[in-house]
Amino acid sequence: MADHWCCHRRTILSTLLVCLTLFGSLLVKWPSLMKPFLTAELNEFMVPYDSTNTNSTNTLIPDDSTNTHSSTNTTILVWHWAFGSKQDIHGNVCQDRFGIPNCFLSDDRSLFPQADFVIFHNRELINGQQLPLHLPRPEEQGWVWFSWESPAHNGNIKFLDGKMNYTMSYRRDADFFVPYGWLEPHNVGSGMTVDDFIPKNKSYLACWVVSNYAGHHKRTQVYNKLKKVIPVEVYGGAMGRRLNGEQLLPTISRCYFYLSFENSQFQDYVTEKLWSNALKGGAVPVVLGPSRKNYEAMIPKDSFIHVDDFWSVEELGAFLKKLAEDRERYASYFKWKLNYRVSAYDNWLVDPLCRICTIRSTLQKPKVYRNLYDWERK
Ligand SMILES: *[C@@H]1O[C@H](CO)[C@@H](O)[C@H](O)[C@H]1NC(C)=O
Ligand SMILES: *[C@@H]1O[C@H](CO)[C@@H](O)[C@H](O)[C@H]1NC(C)=O
Ligand SMILES: *[C@@H]1O[C@H](CO)[C@@H](O)[C@H](O)[C@H]1NC(C)=O
Repeated sequence: MADHWCCHRRTILSTLLVCLTLFGSLLVKWPSLMKPFLTAELNEFMVPYDSTNTNSTNTLIPDDSTNTHSSTNTTILVWHWAFGSKQDIHGNVCQDRFGIPNCFLSDDRSLFPQADFVIFHNRELINGQQLPLHLPRPEEQGWVWFSWESPAHNGNIKFLDGKMNYTMSYRRDADFFVPYGWLEPHNVGSGMTVDDFIPKNKSYLACWVVSNYAGHHKRTQVYNKLKKVIPVEVYGGAMGRRLNGEQLLPTISRCYFYLSFENSQFQDYVTEKLWSNALKGGAVPVVLGPSRKNYEAMIPKDSFIHVDDFWSVEELGAFLKKLAEDRERYASYFKWKLNYRVSAYDNWLVDPLCRICTIRSTLQKPKVYRNLYDWERK
């Protein structure tokens, strides 16, 4: 596992205690531990789907101008659930949650011959889950490759070449673009000022929540340098300071800056660390991920600090210290809050599927990914 619980304890006694406690909780929490650790960062804060929340004003992504509500039925078959996490999709999920008609989700494999789209989540494929190559494949059926992870964690997917028709991912050029979050226009009403959006209980300069800690990650190297220059509060499983879903935002709101450091650097790979942690929590994000230009396509350029803005980590640290003391300048990073608010999927595994129906009519057809591996690394 990513968290080396037992190895870093200094004394044998505390090692023993920690391991015994862990062993105990392992027995109790076995099902939840079955969730793979690579995406533990994502899953830790995943909100379970609530079928009683019928809210048709939710949006599926920022600018869904391509939205068309088809009058033909679309059947979407989930071949296996991501991370083995079976979701409750009984009823008419896409209609109830997003007002999308004629869009049916199922995980009943006997519907394969009728399915318009079949969803294959990557993690299970690289762990040995088989594609239904033994079944006659309807010519019109679209196979959709679905992944939330960056190429660094998707494994060698060469065996998928020529098999998948569409992609569903955080990549903006995926057939089904499903971002980790987005800003949506929001009118806060007159009389509000930027100051109203800055939490008043700031007591830490910089904070970081990390559940997958690895020395070879670029982010770990930056953190190790940064903590020598400024104090950094660290939380998360990897640090033995796990935060639950309710503690996360109140904790982040007490930090001037939040280190939204991605585990790997790839085009468009900007995760909940930016959206659901920093921006929602009311801390200014310090980002490490794709280029500044790439971030600027998603959020205003004056709403974040990029590690690459500085020649050195020392210089970054000095800048953060000065900025936290400069009330007015610090506040300017919150200007976007007057016009936007942060949004993200309630259910990362179900909500993205509904998007298929809204843009179905605009899909290129037929389409095949002859080299998915290279597409990922583009
Ligand atoms: C529906 O969604 C809107 C916008 O996200 C939210 O303000 C509202 O509280 C939601 N209503 C319910 C019943 O959840
Ligand atoms: C800090 O203040 C914000 C609102 O400004 C609040 O949401 C959050 O819960 C507070 N955090 C703590 C730890 O009290
Ligand atoms: C999907 O890919 C298969 C296999 O390459 C191909 O035969 C089929 O025409 C494609 N279907 C669509 C809808 O693009």
